[in-house]
Amino acid sequence: MVNYLVTGANRGIGLEFIRQILHRGERVVACCRNPERAIALNTLASVHDNDRLVICKLDVMQATAIASLPELLKKKGILIDVLIPNAGVAAASERLGLIQEETMLRVLHTNAISPMLLTQAFADHLQAPKRNAKIVCISSDLGSITYASDLTFGLSYGMSKAALNMGVKKLSSDLANRGIVLVAIHPGWVQTDMGGRYAHLTPTESTQAMLGVIDKLSIAQSGLFLDYRGQQVPW
Ligand SMILES: NC(=O)c1ccc[n+]([C@@H]2O[C@H](COP(=O)([O-])OP(=O)(O)OC[C@H]3O[C@@H](n4cnc5c(N)ncnc54)[C@H](OP(=O)(O)O)[C@@H]3O)[C@@H](O)[C@H]2O)c1
Repeated sequence: MVNYLVTGANRGIGLEFIRQILHRGERVVACCRNPERAIALNTLASVHDNDRLVICKLDVMQATAIASLPELLKKKGILIDVLIPNAGVAAASERLGLIQEETMLRVLHTNAISPMLLTQAFADHLQAPKRNAKIVCISSDLGSITYASDLTFGLSYGMSKAALNMGVKKLSSDLANRGIVLVAIHPGWVQTDMGGRYAHLTPTESTQAMLGVIDKLSIAQSGLFLDYRGQQVPW
């Protein structure tokens, strides 16, 4: 059985990862900020084996909680094979004159810094190379400088995903030497609270495709920026 860990698992793409991983018969640690308010996750827990779905409180802005998580799981007898830093935030109204330090720091911290801290925290914990360990950071093509327009819209979000992509590239060799694959993946434009209802893909379509890509990841792909179909996205 493959053991996954997904952050931001209470809604959107994260929640869909949990549903599909459980449907495959695998085990998953579902991390979210407020487990007591995560109704959909708790409903899943009530119909699934306790052993296959473990709900865990994690605010990815809390570095100490990230650092202590691998040991906490180990003590419970859980060793992770596939880490999916998925939690993310976007910010509205960032035109010139409306750019705010606090917003930018929150977006950069959540989307770029936290996945790097998670990667570092789990580097020793992941069952590599015995179990084909993988770290899959959920990025966005809005972090692609090649695709970027010069509109201020999505300023801190685009910056944060570009920084995440750089982090993936930077850490990928060290992790590949340990037998761990590290990639950034763009899920497509997805119908979630963040993506909105006009998005092209349902969470089911996006997540199913991403799991197909994740299954086939090889160490040679470490450091790549892929989309949900497994195609490379320009930096
Ligand atoms: N939807 C799209 O079209 C799209 C496109 C490209 C990339 N993405 C990326 O895909 C990922 C998932 O997005 P989504 O569409 O599912 O967004 P979403 O529906 O807005 O869900 C975001 C998730 O992240 C969690 N989160 C935010 N800040 C957190 C924190 N500090 N600690 C823990 N969890 C936190 C949220 O938890 P709370 O409920 O507690 O807020 C929620 O579970 C993100 O990284 C996003 O950037 C999405």
